[in-house]
Amino acid sequence: MKKFNARNFVKEKIVEIKKEVGSGKALCALSGGVDSTVAAVLAHQVLGNRLLSLFIDDGLMRENEAKDVTTIFNARGIRTEVLSAQNNFFKALKDIEDPEEKRKAFRNIFYRTLGSAVKRERADYLIQGTIAADISETKKGIKTQHNVLGQIGLSPKKYGLKIIEPLRTLYKDQVREVARSLGLPKKLSERMPFPGPGLATRVIGEVTPERVKMVRKATKIVEDEIKKLKPFQTFAVLLRDKATGIAKGKRHFGNIIVIRSVESKDAITAKVTKVPWRILEKIEKRIIKEIPSVVKVLYDLTPKPPSTIEYI
Ligand code: XMP
Repeated sequence: MKKFNARNFVKEKIVEIKKEVGSGKALCALSGGVDSTVAAVLAHQVLGNRLLSLFIDDGLMRENEAKDVTTIFNARGIRTEVLSAQNNFFKALKDIEDPEEKRKAFRNIFYRTLGSAVKRERADYLIQGTIAADISETKKGIKTQHNVLGQIGLSPKKYGLKIIEPLRTLYKDQVREVARSLGLPKKLSERMPFPGPGLATRVIGEVTPERVKMVRKATKIVEDEIKKLKPFQTFAVLLRDKATGIAKGKRHFGNIIVIRSVESKDAITAKVTKVPWRILEKIEKRIIKEIPSVVKVLYDLTPKPPSTIEYI
């Protein structure tokens, strides 16, 4: 197989986007991750101010994400907007516990929100950072990735959209190569993947603002402590089950948090990070102290396969 060449890939995509969008306008959905950032930076090279990068604040993002993303994009002179849509997303996810139903509900509100934004902006195209792994996992029926529509027979037109996916043939390691060749800072090109449906994939059972807040706080602690090991991905998960603990000498039936950390190249297979025991102990102490409703902290030992990286 021919070796992947990031520079040539960039050149090809610039020609393709130019040809497809012509003198039209486009909107690019940002998530703060490397895929959507690369898609937006590529499109911006062709479209300049005819591109609007939109970060939908769905209430399911990591701490400070909206601010971090806008700072990076503003510094590169890319027109960027944050759309506050937390209430709509929580409403759409209310009472849903089933993993696939949750993913589909997310996908639906995500594209409805984008459809309205595209209409309001009078954009001709939606550009998004869907990559090969998103498409293959959805097609294989492993899980419904939030950003896959046309490839599985759902019509983007239903949402009033014409979609361009410049990265749809690439895997994560190749996207990182493209990011480096575009001169993106290491902080971004090497950034941990974060799923489109955000913390909704890390709250097992119903997604409520309170439960998301808990997993956001735990994720920050886990990332703070494990990121020096440079794992492919690390995060916290809030389980639906509860367990008995002790608080002020009395029974306390509280929450359970799982720590997950994996090593991978392309997210198709993954090994568990061998996190030193002292780091795990530190995380346990911080989570119990900083999130009082938690009574148990577990470490997940399962590779992919048989497990998947996320929990739903
Ligand atoms: P799994 O859990 O299937 O995840 O092993 C593989 C990689 O994909 C990320 N992921 C997603 N990314 N939309 C995305 O853009 C999604 O719906 C989604 N679900 C999972 C996951 O974080 C991992 O890196």
